[in-house]
Amino acid sequence: MDPDASVRQTDTDAAGARLSAVQKGYFIDPFIKNFVPRAHLQPPRPPLINVGTFMRSTAIDDLVDQWLSKSTEKRCQIVSLGSGSDTRFWRIATGPHQDRLGKYIEIDFPEVTTKKAMTVKKSRELATVLGEPTQVTLGHGGAALHSPRYHLIPADLRHPPDEILGKTLTVPSSPNETKSILSPSLPTLLLFECVLVYMTPEASSGLVRWFVDYFATESANLGEDAILGAIVYEMFGLNDPFGRIMVSNLKARNVTLPGAEPYHSIESLPSRFLNNGFSAARALTLHQIRQNYVPTLELERIAQLEMLDEVEELNLVLEHYAITWGLFLSNPASSMVWSDWGLKQRNPE
Ligand SMILES: C[S@@+](CC[C@H](N)C(=O)[O-])C[C@H]1O[C@@H](n2cnc3c(N)ncnc32)[C@H](O)[C@@H]1O
Repeated sequence: MDPDASVRQTDTDAAGARLSAVQKGYFIDPFIKNFVPRAHLQPPRPPLINVGTFMRSTAIDDLVDQWLSKSTEKRCQIVSLGSGSDTRFWRIATGPHQDRLGKYIEIDFPEVTTKKAMTVKKSRELATVLGEPTQVTLGHGGAALHSPRYHLIPADLRHPPDEILGKTLTVPSSPNETKSILSPSLPTLLLFECVLVYMTPEASSGLVRWFVDYFATESANLGEDAILGAIVYEMFGLNDPFGRIMVSNLKARNVTLPGAEPYHSIESLPSRFLNNGFSAARALTLHQIRQNYVPTLELERIAQLEMLDEVEELNLVLEHYAITWGLFLSNPASSMVWSDWGLKQRNPE
């Protein structure tokens, strides 16, 4: 079996988990049902999975909302790599910060983007958010979709970044020319939500480094400051007994996690940014986030949703997933606005 097919299948799991958490009332996402076939017939996930999905989603939402709130001088740009069936563009474009979003770009394998482009075109609820039908075009044989703000691009992220990001991230500007979709002068946030772990550390470092070099060089050419943020969510610390069980369960499904190899501890995670040109980075486990970064009222609310018996197991799982965020600013003067971007403690120890 093609090993990439198993990796692509992880998106079906992620979308199913999100739908389950929404149906149980953990959070609101009116769009996810469009991405799960026969959504109303899907069995709910165990409470432990729902709580994990809640922690991951609300923490990433918080970081993204802060990024949008800070983009007051200029609209921002978001690039989601390994975006799968993520609904974030639709949630932002219909939410309170919709005017702060300049551009939203999603990249995934062509098999995944073709399916997503078809789902979007077929759903009135999703398609109307993109703009007038005449402004929405398909490309790459149906694997790419372009609209004024939203772009869906097919690419294998393990290929050389210059090839995928330099060449594929373009739209025709005239009959014989193309122009880049990326705007180097916009404050840009990269989302790597459970994707780098499936690639080698070398490939993911190359990708992170490419963005830093591109934004540093291209924004300087325009006489602008580069403002680049990034969020990674994934598993780590897989060399302990619990981690080894996770690895072997996934191996049985033909999924390997080469990207987790360098990261044995939470302290090691920021290095994926700091070693590749970012100026600052931090990481927190989902367990730390649950303990101190979610408002008590929210924790009380979700505790009412369903019985959770497996508290020890929940803690073990949450200790093996982390959110890491990093910031690159070409001009230290921008740090007045951007340096406090990050998760904030709500319930100090
Ligand atoms: C676990 S899913 C996560 C989807 C989405 N980011 C989310 O959090 O809901 C992983 C996604 O990464 C994509 N992916 C993994 N390796 C990739 C690669 N080399 N190139 C492009 N996409 C990749 C998969 O196809 C899949 O859609």
